[in-house]
Amino acid sequence: ERSLLGLKELSSSEIGSILDRAAYWESRTEKVVPVLKDRFVANMFFENSTRTRFSFEMAEKRLGAEVLNFSAAVSSVEKGESIHDTVRTLESMGIDAGVIRLKPVGLLADLATKVSMPLINAGDGNNEHPTQALLDLYTMKKHFGELKGLKVSIIGDIKHSRVARSNLWALQKFGAEVKLCAPEIMQAPELGSYAPYVSMDEALCADVVMMLRVQLERHAEGLLRSAEQYRLEYGLTEERAALLAPHVIIMHPAPINRNVEIDDAVVEHPQSRIFKQMSNGVPIRMAVVERAMK
Ligand code: CP
Repeated sequence: ERSLLGLKELSSSEIGSILDRAAYWESRTEKVVPVLKDRFVANMFFENSTRTRFSFEMAEKRLGAEVLNFSAAVSSVEKGESIHDTVRTLESMGIDAGVIRLKPVGLLADLATKVSMPLINAGDGNNEHPTQALLDLYTMKKHFGELKGLKVSIIGDIKHSRVARSNLWALQKFGAEVKLCAPEIMQAPELGSYAPYVSMDEALCADVVMMLRVQLERHAEGLLRSAEQYRLEYGLTEERAALLAPHVIIMHPAPINRNVEIDDAVVEHPQSRIFKQMSNGVPIRMAVVERAMK
């Protein structure tokens, strides 16, 4: 039974086994394969989610697990109960594993030392979102065959992005060449020693163009002065998409701010893999939940 707190600390062979196991689960045609029968998992979301929460639930149910969904907004967290006490409460009821999304950075690592059940990181602040990066690597690997030498540009709100960090850590372990592109106010300077910040024109010369959501909820007021100005300087507009080489794929973790970081018409562009990423989230999370609970 194993936790998944982040990809920075995972070896390429461990990541590779998860990707291989996801391919196995994708190949299974039955809706439910009850390898986790009589096992209980709680999805504990202290921050909003659509894709991650529902694809974990799909994954858990497809493995035959019993699923409990915890939502902070309708819980005793609203009465002031701490995250630590909430997680310990669920553990004391007999949960076998917990999927958890949190806002504060550092809390997950601390929680993992205080509970004995495996924890799976479903996104912690701007630190890591390991299952998102795993499904992103899976999508790239399926399309290109291998990750080694792949040129991946991550464009947008790097500063607030746990998706960018998890992808950077994981892609580099496989020998992919990562470039970052962001306006200065959305750069994370500490990542500059791992991957260079390049211009938008240079970023678009890649194999994978990964657009990030401008995370307005994490911005200080006024950081994004003009959505249209951002779109013109850093958005994947229809004009820019038309200039991409035919082999390039377009990715975005979603949710999407249409017509800010990516034009409405580009979301379902023939080179876009955005909805494929969402489908791939289910077998990836089956592999991760199985790894944690079997
Ligand atoms: N990509 C992603 O994490 O989406 P949600 O916030 O909807 O889970």
